Amino acid sequence: MADSTKSATLKLGDKEIDFPVYSPTLGPDVVDISKLYAQGDIFTYDPGFTSTAACESAITFIDGDKGELLHRGYPIEQLAEHSHFLELCYLLLYGELPSASQMTDFETRVTRHTMVHEQMHNFFRGFRRDAHPMATMVGVVGAMSAFYHDSTDISDPWQREVAAIRMIAKLPTIASMAYKYSIGQPFVYPKNTHSYAGNFLHMCFAVPAEDYVVDPVLEKAMDRIMMLHADHEQNASTSTVRLAGSSGANPFACIAAGIACLWGPAHGGANQACLEMLREIGTVDRIPEFIARAKDKDDPFRLMGFGHRVYKNFDPRAKVMKESADEVLALMGIHNNPTLQVAKELERIALEDDYFISKKLYPNVDFYSGIILDAMGFPTSMFTPIFALSRTVGWISQWKEMIADKNQRIGRPRQLYIGEARRDYKDLSGR
Ligand code: CMC
Repeated sequence: MADSTKSATLKLGDKEIDFPVYSPTLGPDVVDISKLYAQGDIFTYDPGFTSTAACESAITFIDGDKGELLHRGYPIEQLAEHSHFLELCYLLLYGELPSASQMTDFETRVTRHTMVHEQMHNFFRGFRRDAHPMATMVGVVGAMSAFYHDSTDISDPWQREVAAIRMIAKLPTIASMAYKYSIGQPFVYPKNTHSYAGNFLHMCFAVPAEDYVVDPVLEKAMDRIMMLHADHEQNASTSTVRLAGSSGANPFACIAAGIACLWGPAHGGANQACLEMLREIGTVDRIPEFIARAKDKDDPFRLMGFGHRVYKNFDPRAKVMKESADEVLALMGIHNNPTLQVAKELERIALEDDYFISKKLYPNVDFYSGIILDAMGFPTSMFTPIFALSRTVGWISQWKEMIADKNQRIGRPRQLYIGEARRDYKDLSGR
């Protein structure tokens, strides 16, 4: 626990209660109210946890006002330019950039775990053939605890390590199997001579009837998309993983819970929703109509890929993603992509509009990612699974950190009860 150098005093009628205040390495101070109920017989109320730190963490830091994202202190822009996904995985999991031999060892360990148990193929076949790949992933990742018993004992650090490696290695295999199943093609086994990103493309796009050559441009773009989604501190799905894990649930079950949470359109489902929205807008001249709808309080429509709970400035990931979209489309020889044109013009108009300026709504990571994934040949239903497989390292790093934390307790929020007070049961005849 960080040292307390200051205190905060709460005045409750005549009573004053002092609380320790901790200063983090970066970011605002934190008041420790964990003894509030015991000392003041009162709870705090904070729907959506807008002002509540639920844990200590040394993995990722976001400065929402500056639009800064650091992983273990390293800015995402530098990592996206100089690093690669598996190196970032190592950094998130172990806290430091690897040496050459550590990197080789880590890559070997991940590569040796990319296949899934053959019996899992039968499990896939139980799903409806047109199931959304996210539905399949929630089920199959949850079922991993039934296939890998030897890495479910969370009190054993070695088993925790094996579970982490297994999930990082197998999630691309599972996501690609979910995709292949949904389009009625045979599963493609991993090929360990490929890079992590290249292997995922191979498993998604290869077919037994033809040779598949991984395009280095797409491979690099895929790797970058994975990096930009790898971790994002205590977002909804990560908090879900931590909450599920706080009860002692096994890591596969916890990650399945994270995938379920990610699926929602306010979170990871936004990338699919965003591309669908851009296609629905279709042409630049229709943008004002959609901007008006987004501003209309009586219309539930929101500009997907815009706004963020923490960023009140440009999402730094969106900047990198926008550059990637330009690069990938140019390298693929796609010029004047209508969706990219709509996206850029929508961004320009929204950023000059008082509504978006006053509410500090900027493009987020999902605004441009769908355009790249679409150009690569992925259907929209695969966008959120790709987010999920990329975020798995973040979830598992946060889960491991939580399990090793001596202050960790079961997550158990309180409530502001507004239901009926105690009343007596009435027989059916008296109701
Ligand atoms: N379009 C129009 N208005 C918006 C939008 C938007 N995309 N986002 C927020 N607002 C308005 C909202 O109506 C509210 O207005 P008012 O104060 O008048 O009621 C105000 O801005 C604050 O919104 P909020 O819902 O209280 O903000 P939040 O922090 O709870 O929600 C958010 C953040 C990301 C859920 C929200 O901005 C949103 O729904 N965005 C669209 C979905 C999206 O792109 N999600 C991906 C987020 S980044 C990737 C990820 O985390 O998975």
